[in-house]
Amino acid sequence: MAKIKNVGVIGAGQMGIGIAHVCALAGFNVKLNDVSLERVNSGLATINGNMARQVSKNAISEDERKGALGRITAAGMLEDLSDSDLVIESAIENEELKRKLLSDVCRVLGPDAVVATNSSSISITRLASATDRPERFIGIHFMNPVPVMELVEVIRGIATDDATFDTAKGFVSALQKKIAVAEDFPAFIVNRILLPMINEAIYTLYEGVGNVEAIDTAMKLGAHHPMGPLELADFIGLDTCLSIMQVLHEGLADSKYRPCPLLVKYVEAGWLGKKAQRGFYDYR
Ligand code: CAA
Repeated sequence: MAKIKNVGVIGAGQMGIGIAHVCALAGFNVKLNDVSLERVNSGLATINGNMARQVSKNAISEDERKGALGRITAAGMLEDLSDSDLVIESAIENEELKRKLLSDVCRVLGPDAVVATNSSSISITRLASATDRPERFIGIHFMNPVPVMELVEVIRGIATDDATFDTAKGFVSALQKKIAVAEDFPAFIVNRILLPMINEAIYTLYEGVGNVEAIDTAMKLGAHHPMGPLELADFIGLDTCLSIMQVLHEGLADSKYRPCPLLVKYVEAGWLGKKAQRGFYDYR
């Protein structure tokens, strides 16, 4: 089991910043990377705001916030991650892009560094084949919002060795998160169950069974979900929801996973949910 001190996070989107946030609070040194320093700095500002909210709610102290922020460094280039013991790739859910980033980052890392992906659906075994170290490659899948959600899925690829599996489990435990071990099947456990429910909610809207408000109210009050499925879809990002449904549909070759045409249309329109200010709800 490798000792992890320095963590590199690739991608300063909503998942990447959440991962950097919890790693820094747990005492790891974090380098946060994205395609530009502007994007990283905007991510750092969001982390600052989220930690300030935690301070105002007494979830963490002001000293913990300052300490954690001091442990996060902006990294404008993948080369900046070269001293990482663990890299977590958290780019968008696009296999081609992930393969390129994983292959590129391996070139700058030491031979013993562990490489993980936060992919929410793509085969870990397939992504591992883009790296020079399939035995030290693993899926570590966080849930959104990362600072709040207790679960992390850990997924081994076919070549992942026992030491890497133990390192990943030890790392997740150090973040005070609970682990669910999933086999390397499309979308693993949480999204295999959650995304078909969200897709079905979109079909329910598409077929006119209920409007947005009725569907979300029904599931919040009728099934005790903290968010309705359409609100949750906006929160996850409709592009991510569509990507996951496509992985399920292609990977399991079953028509029950067919993405709802309305979901496809919203993504084509650029209505990607909360981050785009427009999805099933209007945030403008
Ligand atoms: N950082 C830090 N703290 C945060 C936060 C963030 N980004 N977002 C929310 N919080 C904290 C708030 O400060 C608040 O803390 P307290 O309980 O101490 O007051 C708490 O979370 C609740 O937040 P709010 O009061 O603002 O709002 P809420 O009560 O409506 O809860 C929610 C918000 C936690 C997001 C809740 O609605 C929820 O659990 N929704 C479902 C989320 C979910 O299902 N996530 C999984 C998505 S699937 C996934 O992630 C997998 C994938 O690959 C797609």
